[in-house]
Parts: sequence; C-alpha cells; structure tokens
Amino acid sequence: MAVLDKYERRVLISLGATVALFIFSILYAKGRYKSDVPECLPFNKAYTEPKVNKIDSTTYQVFAVAQMWQFQPAEIYVPVGSVVDFFLTSKDVVHGFDIAEKNANMMAVYGNINKTTVKFEKPGVYNITCHEYCGIGHQNMQARVIVNYPEQ
Ligand code: CUA
Repeated sequence: MAVLDKYERRVLISLGATVALFIFSILYAKGRYKSDVPECLPFNKAYTEPKVNKIDSTTYQVFAVAQMWQFQPAEIYVPVGSVVDFFLTSKDVVHGFDIAEKNANMMAVYGNINKTTVKFEKPGVYNITCHEYCGIGHQNMQARVIVNYPEQ
C-alpha cells in the first residue's frame, strides 16, 4: 500500500487550504460588497440593438453595445433606487465595460452576451469606461449612467 510522504501530505494540505481560502474570499466579497458575478447568456441578435427598456419605475434593462470607440447608448438616465440589468455585446473587437463606483466589470465580446445587474442607490453620474485596450481611440471610449431623483 502506498503511503504518502509527510512532505507530500503537507503540500496537499496547504494546497487544499489555499483553494478553500480562495473560495471563501470570493463568497465573502460577494456578500460583503454585494458584487454580482456576471453571467454569460446565449447569443441573441435582439441584444445587438442598443436600447434602454423600462420594465417598471425602478427596473430597467440596458442593451449596451460596444464598438470602436464608443458605447451605445452613450447616456443612460434612470431614477434613484433603480435596478439595472446590463446586457453587453461588441460589434468588433474585445472591449471592457467598467463602472468603477459600482464594482461592475465585464468584457464585451463579439458574438457573446454578458449580463450584470447594478443597483443605483445614490444620485450622480457614473462613468462607464472601456478598460481593455481596443485601438487608437480606446482612451476616449466612455459612456455615462445619470441617476437622478424622479421629477415631482
Ligand atoms: Cu474599447 Cu478600449
């Protein structure tokens, strides 16, 4: 019968502990920072038309389309407290989609639909930035989410 060398056993135990720590860290971050892990959806041409769908007064869907060197829609207006599902795709190369203040971070990939959900609790202007180098105009590739109090 094969017996594990004591060093082998130590390596295996520390490996297991490291993997457990990684998994714990991800779950902790998900709970502590309420970060939503992005999903990958089956491709559907409907998502390649940029638009903002209002589902109800605080629920929105955004079909965000990245292409050299812009996001569409470029400006998205939602009221405070809105929950927004972003569905993201690219018309050409790989782009990034980062809303730094909301910890939202996705890749825009041609032929793919990525989805993340963001809740906007505070009014303000939230920049969406491309954070994957995509060519000569990369540094200007931005869009904005404008979160306002609803008009009375
Ligand atoms: Cu698009 Cu960088």
